[in-house]
Amino acid sequence: MRNLIVIAGFALPLLTLALPALAGEEEIALKDGTGKDLVENNCGGCHSLDYIQMNSPFLDQKKWEGTVQKMIGKFGAPIAEGDVAGIIAYLTANYGAQ
Ligand code: HEC
Repeated sequence: MRNLIVIAGFALPLLTLALPALAGEEEIALKDGTGKDLVENNCGGCHSLDYIQMNSPFLDQKKWEGTVQKMIGKFGAPIAEGDVAGIIAYLTANYGAQ
């Protein structure tokens, strides 16, 4: 019994720490712009969309193109060929390196 109380006292603070972190995942809102829906539909399936924000300081159009191609070719992202240009245009316009 004593052990249980010790475990509960340990686990509860951990839980309260983890919950706000989980809630934060849902707050990622991409900038409004043409192609935003393409990115939301195609890029959030495997990892959080915050990968896009985190990488925006480094990636210009060429590098975004390479990144999208890598998602498709290396990681098997199921993105329709017709959507690729729109995705790259959106990423470059809204999250391109200046
Ligand atoms: C099939 C799963 C999948 C899909 C769909 C996907 N990605 Fe990824 N992505 C990955 C994996 C795997 C990694 C690398 C491993 C990691 O860090 O989690 C990654 C990493 C990244 C990174 C970090 C930098 C890098 O090059 O590793 C960026 C930026 C990124 N993805 C953007 C995108 C964008 C933009 C899309 C939509 C066009 C997309 N991803 C769709 C699987 C995917």
